[in-house]
Amino acid sequence: MPKQETSIFAVMSALALENKAINLSQGFPDFKVSTQLINLVHKYMKKGKNQYAPMTGIPELREQISQKFESLYGAKYDFQKEINITAGATQALHTAIAATINEADEVIVFEPSYDSYVPVIKMHGGIVKFAQLKLPDYHIEWDEVKMLITSRTRMIIINSPHNPTGSILREEDMKMLDKLTRNTDIIILSDEVYEHLIFDGKRHESICHYPELIQRSYVVGSFGKTFHATGWKLGYVIAPENLMEEFRKLHQFVVFACNTPIQYAIAEYMTDKSVYMNLGHFYQDKRDQFLKLIKNSRFKIIPSYGTYFQLLDFSGITDETEIDFAIRMTKEYKLASIPVSVFYHKNADNKVLRFCFAKKEDTLKKAAEILCKI
Ligand SMILES: Cc1ncc(COP(=O)(O)O)c(C=O)c1O
Repeated sequence: MPKQETSIFAVMSALALENKAINLSQGFPDFKVSTQLINLVHKYMKKGKNQYAPMTGIPELREQISQKFESLYGAKYDFQKEINITAGATQALHTAIAATINEADEVIVFEPSYDSYVPVIKMHGGIVKFAQLKLPDYHIEWDEVKMLITSRTRMIIINSPHNPTGSILREEDMKMLDKLTRNTDIIILSDEVYEHLIFDGKRHESICHYPELIQRSYVVGSFGKTFHATGWKLGYVIAPENLMEEFRKLHQFVVFACNTPIQYAIAEYMTDKSVYMNLGHFYQDKRDQFLKLIKNSRFKIIPSYGTYFQLLDFSGITDETEIDFAIRMTKEYKLASIPVSVFYHKNADNKVLRFCFAKKEDTLKKAAEILCKI
């Protein structure tokens, strides 16, 4: 990968550390994982659950996932044949792409896009066709997607709630996706890692609400996002049996199996639905708290409907590029963010920065004080 540079998240986090800046750049919480969950990991380690788990993941956890998808989305997935535990969503995404994309296959990706999709598609010989999410609300123009679909289109990647913008797909979007891909063999890769981080009473438009789409889709989730434990790198993929068979052929040689005691701990923890069902309210409060604190700043707020990211438009403040301003803000004002331009493959500069609000009240207050001074 001669042209691949170091990820912006690593760059900005290092810059934040070097400048002792508050780090709202990378998407990780600065508060604690539930003590109950930590105690469960401890319990299973002491019980001796420390050797390889089955390649597919422990059945108890897959059963919990199956039950969750049935109760939340009305979708029935066979935990033996259609659910697999992965080393975070990143590995699930990688393996799903690697298992299905061949030389010269086309993949439609929406920009701005999470940074791991494109390099993986290219690594496997795929051709990326970019569709643009339209400002100011970052919605999909389905006519554009229609124009991009060809006989070589093998996959469309969707992500809702969306990183970096906090936008969400609506029912109309899912119906359009269904209409455009019906009677084709286009695979949908649906990145739903923020499924529980959705606000203002909106419904998460999972693929799993749509029986036609389910038949052609990989759906990817992340326990790191859901349980404030991004460092544990545990996630899952669900898909119909034919797609899962292909996934597993590869998965067995990528990681083979994932962290055993954490799988047992999460399986037990998930029996209480409230541990994930209350997450939307928890993060909505954080978003609202952050927005209230910065309401008198000169930044323009772009609504966030989900995830733990808030976009702020700085066009009323400076003409600098997003990258220059983000770097200057880190060095001079001691606050790190992510320029949204890095989520595009070429020169988009809309004067928008991404801030992660998965932070303690005190961190958010300090960050807001800085933003109000700029
Ligand atoms: C949209 C999206 N997909 C996937 C991931 C990766 O999740 P994990 O940490 O479980 O690998 C992230 C993490 O930031 C993300 O934002």
